[in-house]
Amino acid sequence: MGDKQTDITWELARATNLDNWEDRVPLHEAAYGVAAFEDPGHLSEVAREDLMAMAPFLPGGSVAALDVCHLQCHIGTDTLSLARAGARVTGVDFSPAALESAAGLAERLGLSATWVASDVLDARAAVAGDFDVVYTSIGTITWLDDLHRWAAQIAGLLRAGGLFYIRDGHPSLYALDEDAESLQLRYPYFGGGAAQLWDESTTYAGDGTVAHSRTYQWVHPMSDILNALIGAGLKLLRVDEGKTLPWRFSTRMVEVPGGFAWPEEERDLVPCTYTIIARKGGA
Ligand SMILES: C[S@@+](CC[C@H](N)C(=O)[O-])C[C@H]1O[C@@H](n2cnc3c(N)ncnc32)[C@H](O)[C@@H]1O
Repeated sequence: MGDKQTDITWELARATNLDNWEDRVPLHEAAYGVAAFEDPGHLSEVAREDLMAMAPFLPGGSVAALDVCHLQCHIGTDTLSLARAGARVTGVDFSPAALESAAGLAERLGLSATWVASDVLDARAAVAGDFDVVYTSIGTITWLDDLHRWAAQIAGLLRAGGLFYIRDGHPSLYALDEDAESLQLRYPYFGGGAAQLWDESTTYAGDGTVAHSRTYQWVHPMSDILNALIGAGLKLLRVDEGKTLPWRFSTRMVEVPGGFAWPEEERDLVPCTYTIIARKGGA
């Protein structure tokens, strides 16, 4: 559970999280439906939804022929989906095992991509070139303590006029008790900068267990997320809130098209996701 607010240093938290993410890679390789990518028309569900949301803000409605940097790319299934949509893709992640898996998948599928091992908070210095789109989706900033530094990487990676896209779990969702039999608040919405300690040997995809079960995660209220992006000089184009998640946050969630949602009578009570689309000025 993540009840314990703790004073851990970023360095120790990051090292603990990296051990955990390295362990998750073989489990996710087995559980992410990688075999479906053998069909050359297959794109991940997450990427398909994100591409539709981005389309009104992209030239010609598409990422085709654009340089796209995918932050926290994990085993590359979303990154390679963007490549299939025509983008020149660079995937960034701090997990060498995830990038090795992503590179192997790209090779098997005959898709071209660049993979960069870096902390997302150091991404600008680690990645060569600049980008038309910086993309990150589902399972992202709860792993980061410093949103101002995160937003500065994004602004630095974008070309003038470039687009930033994020979709992720809503901070209001993360304040709820995932184990309760009704919607009940449990965790602080305003994290106050403290990490939460979690200890879970399972992961959100597949049945296996990890040896390194501890993680540290940070709660970021919507105002902090939006203000970090605004503070980095990005202009907000669109903010949406959604009722469906790609993972089962609580066992009470039911399967719906596109993922999981609260039972129908509760669905309008609380958002599950947010989406932010923003542009770097100066084009
Ligand atoms: C849930 S995955 C998100 C990707 C995508 N939605 C997916 O499911 O494939 C989270 C990723 O963030 C990466 N990550 C966590 N903390 C990071 C950090 N500080 N710097 C770079 N990557 C990080 C992990 O290695 C993992 O691959």
